[in-house]
Amino acid sequence: MRTADIRARFLDFFAARGHAVVPSAPLPTPDPTLLFVNAGMVPFKPYLTGERTAPWPRATSVQKCVRTLDIDEVGRTTRHGSFFQMNGNFSFGDYFKEEAIAFAWELSTTPLDRGGYGLDPERIWVTVHHSDTEARGIWREVAGLPQRRIVTRGDEDNFWSMGVPGPCGPCSELYYDRGPAFGRDGGPEADEDRYMEFWNLVFMQYERGEGPGKSGYPILGELPRRNIDTGMGLERMATLLQGRDNLYEIDEMRPVLDRAAELAAVRYGADPAADVRLRVVADHVRTALMLLADGTTPGNEGRGYVLRRILRRAVRSMRQLGYHDPALPGLLPVARDCMAPGYPEVAGTFARIADQAYGEEDAFRATLKQGTTVLDTAIGKTKAEGQRVLPGAQVFLLHDTYGFPIDLTLEMAAEQGVDVDREGFTTLMNAQRERARADARARKSGGTADTSALRTVLDAHGPTDWRAWDTLTTEATVLALLSPTGPVLASREGEIVTVVLDRTPFYAESGGQDSDAGRITGTSAEAEVLDVQRPLPGLVIHQVRLTAGELAIGDGVHAAVDPEWRLGARQAHSGTHVLHAALREVLGPTALQSGSYNRPGYLRLDFPWRGALSTTARSEVEEAANRALRHDCAVGVRWMTLPEARQLGALALFDETYGEKVRVVEIGGAWSRELCGGTHVTHASQIGTIALTSEGSIGAGRRRLEAAVGLEGFGYLARERDLVTGIAEQLGAPRTELPERIVGLLDRLKAADRENARLTQQATTARAAALADSPEWIDGVGLVTATTEGGGNEARALATAVRDRLPAGTPGAVGVGTASGALAVALNQAAVRRGLSASVLVKGLLNGRGGGSPELAQGGGLAPGRTDTVLADLHSLIPRH
Ligand code: ALA
Repeated sequence: MRTADIRARFLDFFAARGHAVVPSAPLPTPDPTLLFVNAGMVPFKPYLTGERTAPWPRATSVQKCVRTLDIDEVGRTTRHGSFFQMNGNFSFGDYFKEEAIAFAWELSTTPLDRGGYGLDPERIWVTVHHSDTEARGIWREVAGLPQRRIVTRGDEDNFWSMGVPGPCGPCSELYYDRGPAFGRDGGPEADEDRYMEFWNLVFMQYERGEGPGKSGYPILGELPRRNIDTGMGLERMATLLQGRDNLYEIDEMRPVLDRAAELAAVRYGADPAADVRLRVVADHVRTALMLLADGTTPGNEGRGYVLRRILRRAVRSMRQLGYHDPALPGLLPVARDCMAPGYPEVAGTFARIADQAYGEEDAFRATLKQGTTVLDTAIGKTKAEGQRVLPGAQVFLLHDTYGFPIDLTLEMAAEQGVDVDREGFTTLMNAQRERARADARARKSGGTADTSALRTVLDAHGPTDWRAWDTLTTEATVLALLSPTGPVLASREGEIVTVVLDRTPFYAESGGQDSDAGRITGTSAEAEVLDVQRPLPGLVIHQVRLTAGELAIGDGVHAAVDPEWRLGARQAHSGTHVLHAALREVLGPTALQSGSYNRPGYLRLDFPWRGALSTTARSEVEEAANRALRHDCAVGVRWMTLPEARQLGALALFDETYGEKVRVVEIGGAWSRELCGGTHVTHASQIGTIALTSEGSIGAGRRRLEAAVGLEGFGYLARERDLVTGIAEQLGAPRTELPERIVGLLDRLKAADRENARLTQQATTARAAALADSPEWIDGVGLVTATTEGGGNEARALATAVRDRLPAGTPGAVGVGTASGALAVALNQAAVRRGLSASVLVKGLLNGRGGGSPELAQGGGLAPGRTDTVLADLHSLIPRH
């Protein structure tokens, strides 16, 4: 049975039993405890804890998951995938143990032709938690399982939680006996390869607290209601039903594995080490595809780093298999074809996915090339010194300067039998991180980012009443004041302090939009707002400079955003959306914004693209943007659920956490539709104008557009116009003829340069001939010394020209100095044979500085006026016999 059919059969089975079918959530999750969804229940967590009421009593889903904790297991075992799909059925206070067990048994054992998976009931084993006699009883009753095939296990195996505080409970797992060919007899306790776990039923009834491991945490209490959370490994079920040895060989992955083998010209099954690598490639390419499809882009932190690491591991595995060309262009399309039936978006957005993946591979190949040389040298040196540990400083250098990730260094060092001083490396890393943090703190909040103090304020007063969308002024009360050293009761004129208000009209920097400027005024105090941030969800803080009076906790104040500033901010932010839409209109959907920043008068937008935009493309983008302004497209804000927003094709740029409803900003209806929390104009014409000021590279495959907006845009264009007028006046030419005139001037300049060089050459030759005519003879060596205009190049040119004109058979030496302090010495072959060296002579003249070859050497830095004296020394440096 194909994986797609197993998926469909699961959803059908539970839909027929009253479960709402819920689509998979995207892999990046807003859950602050996780980077990616790693279990089917993650999107339902608020319903399971009772924090929110579930819209349905029961639900079913096939959830995309990524787990990279045991990434080293991938390819080595039969059942670890970094990306996998979890089929789940959930009860939110509805049914419990008995039905959950009955459902799982029914679906697993009902014959294939009657809608089940047709597993042999005699080969199913289950495990239960040792405290859970109830589950044991149900298994006996519902499934008629003999005692021997109901195994009791402890917390480590049969008590499930997310690994972090949240819902948890005892669980019961289903295993399938794949037969003696796969390992020892004796149930899951004996061999988890032979007995493959395929379904976990969690009886979720407790809430756990902080603590390590699978049992080192306290149980805080019972959940308000008892829930069911189950997870059936889709890939594992496919492995069983397709009769495969391991999950990398199922229909959704095997084609990638085969292509990798074909590219690397190896045979799968011939060499265990190569097989592991092929399986790693099959797994990682698919994971990268799915992550890219959900909007994660490679980077150095968090999610981006996980993706980068996965991509790099895939590329490196191909290299280890002997394939050194770019590998992803051959592999990714195969993964796409495998996954598109279940996830059409991977085909729909493939151009963007491929572009990002291939760009990353190119960048990595460049890094590898550079870093490998450095690493090999360092390893060679370590070994030569009889050491076996690569110093931490070396590893840090590789990381910091060459972007070589530590895990790669570890792997490559291990391959060459060398250890790495990890502790030294970590110390240096931490020191660097601390520096960066201190730096960011100093920049962002004037040295006040003591989050624990901020958290106390938030806990005490609740979230800030944030009014930036509705108003420019509010009356407010000062809740807290934080100086760089900690909380204070009051602050005086001249000081910079962080102010927390109960209510604020100030926009806090987010979504690319810079924070508002404005003033906070009290009865005596006047403060200028320098920066506004939201360091904790719900809490807005203002960094202000007190320009007069005193501000104290409890003071009533008037908070007012500078209306001019806000107008500019709205223009710039709407301008960013307009430019983004224009860019995509011209370049296509691949040009998806990967970062942006805007403030009054200015915006910039980053996007993945290979190669510079042509002048035509730039003009087209600018024109498309300004056309939207001229059409005065309406700008609208709507609230809707995330699925609704997706349905409408709204662009979610994914670094945000989304609440129940998301805010969608539209410009010209569907023309520009983005999830956005910023402040905007109401009609596009209010933006004024958008003038592109630059377009350039900001790293491999990434471009940046910058533009001047509104009045700044007009100002920019006016300055350009003045510049052109000025040039036209200077050249005395009409503006339209300027390009031609400048090309003409440059041509003439080049011709003049060439003529100049020719004349200089002629003069040098004439002078050289004259000088070579009358050398001074010192013990059989013909010596010429001379001075010339210019610098090192001129000295060298004259010295060699003279040397080449001295009689070839006789030793000849030439020294040339310049008034600017350069020196060159040239010797002919006969002089070198006689044992002279230009390099030694130069060093002799310059007290050890300078150098070159025996025939030609140079140096510089002679003090003014010393040239002649130094040249005269040459006489005494020619050895006499
Ligand atoms: N949440 C359970 C698991 O991930 C079903 O295994």
